[in-house]
Amino acid sequence: VKISVFGTGEVGTAIARALSTLGHDVVLASRKPGNDKHPIRVVDHIQAAEHGAWVVNAMHGEDAIEVLPALALSGKLLWDLGNFRSAIDSPLGETRGETLQRLLPQTRVVKAMNFVSAQIMARPDRLEGNHTVFIAANDAGAKGAVTDVLQKFGWPDILDLGDLTACRAMESLAPMWIRLNDQLGHVMFDLEVVRGR
Ligand SMILES: NC(=O)c1ccc[n+]([C@@H]2O[C@H](COP(=O)([O-])OP(=O)(O)OC[C@H]3O[C@@H](n4cnc5c(N)ncnc54)[C@H](OP(=O)(O)O)[C@@H]3O)[C@@H](O)[C@H]2O)c1
Repeated sequence: VKISVFGTGEVGTAIARALSTLGHDVVLASRKPGNDKHPIRVVDHIQAAEHGAWVVNAMHGEDAIEVLPALALSGKLLWDLGNFRSAIDSPLGETRGETLQRLLPQTRVVKAMNFVSAQIMARPDRLEGNHTVFIAANDAGAKGAVTDVLQKFGWPDILDLGDLTACRAMESLAPMWIRLNDQLGHVMFDLEVVRGR
């Protein structure tokens, strides 16, 4: 699949490399194209929108809402990995995932991995034992396609939370990630949902 990853930070770089390793045709989208410190080709936002059948959104919170709706993303799958900065210390209004879906009605938005540390996203085996990644989308086909990637990354527990209204629960985890990071002093952690009957 042709995939454009927006944002050349910690998450964007990690996910772009991992998707490339799976054999996808990946570019990074940046405000500073041509940055050759990355092994993946770095292009501008407009070129990236043309390239990808899939767009992965690894930009900072509020920036994504400014950048992506201005681009031609109709018919594409948009995998949103991020959180609003404001979610860390203030109540969520409309969630980022739902805002993107509203502003891009012809784009199939999938929310997944916004709680997962960048170092673990494509390497869940770095944590021992079972742990959980959440996924939500309105479009079943798009959700299935991203689930397939998560399986290829080796995720032991992919928990489908339903449609994009689940973004409220998922994005509300942003302060929990920050708190765990502060208290543990590292990023090598995740949640596990233990199911009983
Ligand atoms: N870090 C983690 O472990 C982690 C885990 C889960 C979810 N997330 C989420 O993932 C998102 C990205 O996190 P990150 O840690 O990768 O952040 P980061 O390292 O700061 O990277 C964000 C990237 O977004 C781009 N960017 C910055 N300002 C922008 C603007 N005004 N307009 C457009 N693009 C801009 C930049 O790329 P260019 O300079 O190349 O344009 C920057 O490298 C956040 O929403 C975060 O909540 C992070």
